[in-house]
Amino acid sequence: MNRDKTITLAFTGASGAPYGLRLLECLLAADYKVYLLISSAARVVMATEHDLKLPSGPAAAKEALVKKLNCNPELLEVCGKEDWFSPVASGSAAPKKMVVCPCSAGSVAAIAHGMSDNLIERAADVVMKERGQLLLVVRETPFSTLHLENMHKLSQMGVTIMPAAPGFYHQPKTVEDLVDFMVARILDHLDIEQKLVARWGYDNR
Ligand SMILES: Cc1cc2nc3c(=O)[nH]c(=O)nc-3n(C[C@H](O)[C@H](O)[C@H](O)COP(=O)(O)O)c2cc1C
Repeated sequence: MNRDKTITLAFTGASGAPYGLRLLECLLAADYKVYLLISSAARVVMATEHDLKLPSGPAAAKEALVKKLNCNPELLEVCGKEDWFSPVASGSAAPKKMVVCPCSAGSVAAIAHGMSDNLIERAADVVMKERGQLLLVVRETPFSTLHLENMHKLSQMGVTIMPAAPGFYHQPKTVEDLVDFMVARILDHLDIEQKLVARWGYDNR
């Protein structure tokens, strides 16, 4: 397995499940092998914001996602909350890139303090210690001082904090246009080619 074409993606319990799902779809379309981690709260949010009920078992969750996205099953591996034998749990095997999208304030706090109490927190800790690329697509409003302190701490450690705050300069007509704006910016940061929304100064003059 070419580690350059692998990525860890975590869905946590912040509002914004459609961002995570669309990002997953784009990563798979770009031929990335995706290790997907889903928190319990993320499943609740997904069922609330989307017509997708994700079962708690990794195999059943994978089946539901493969069906929904009509993707190559070999590219998707859904990992359990305490699957400590997953490649993402160790620096010797983990992908160099990880995105938490959407990322809750609770997960920000746990990652900022190196809790490593579940596979999402451990995988983020591994990417940080291995000096890989970690992106947190944080969603909460307003932010408390504690949220801001945690994000500041992570930012100083090289983590990219990308608030789920889409722009409007591409004149969105639908919710999907707003979702694609955020997903495009995430893919740009990961250096993965995307045709969802042009980079500033290219097709938008
Ligand atoms: C429908 C719904 C929406 C939520 N939205 C947010 C949110 O936007 N930001 C946030 O930080 N927490 C939000 N929460 C609360 C988190 O899900 C909760 O703090 C949870 O413990 C986070 O756990 P996790 O980070 O392990 O997924 C929401 C919960 C629900 C059920």
